[in-house]
Amino acid sequence: MRFAIALILSAAAFAQLPDAPGRELTQKICNNCHGPETFQSRRLNREGWEKVIDEMTSRGAQASDSDFDKIVDYLANVFGPNVNVNSAAAKELTESLGFSQEEADALIRYREKNGSFKTLDDVRKVPGISAAKIDAKKARIVF
Ligand code: HEC
Repeated sequence: MRFAIALILSAAAFAQLPDAPGRELTQKICNNCHGPETFQSRRLNREGWEKVIDEMTSRGAQASDSDFDKIVDYLANVFGPNVNVNSAAAKELTESLGFSQEEADALIRYREKNGSFKTLDDVRKVPGISAAKIDAKKARIVF
């Protein structure tokens, strides 16, 4: 029983932050004082995350400037503004989610043909969109 609980806890700890470049660094620096639950539900643009980092350095967070840049890149990438995949235009999909033009076009074609997406699994069914890309952005995809 205790073993099962430990397994569940470690699986939850593992699932913490979406996988994208900069995750390990962000985990290492930001988990020094509090867990990711303190910031992972926020959706901010780059400027907003820069402000958070400024505030955290004044609270004592320490890293080199280039590491903080990488952390801002990571946070703005995975916890940037939400994108509604049922209404977003191609431009929003490419600029905000980092889809290629082909991927954005494929998503829109799929949505026109099959109706609204309801879950991430629906989005994963669109032919030609990289699953890794969807997983990296999953915190920002809304329906
Ligand atoms: C030196 C300690 C320390 C480090 C390192 C740190 N924080 Fe914080 N952070 C705090 C404290 C203290 C609070 C306020 C209490 C709380 O919510 O736990 C806080 C709160 C926050 C909040 C809530 C907003 C607020 O102003 O109350 C966010 C968002 C946040 N941190 C993000 C981050 C991110 C992102 C990182 C990694 C770059 C980070 N923190 C690293 C100390 C730290």
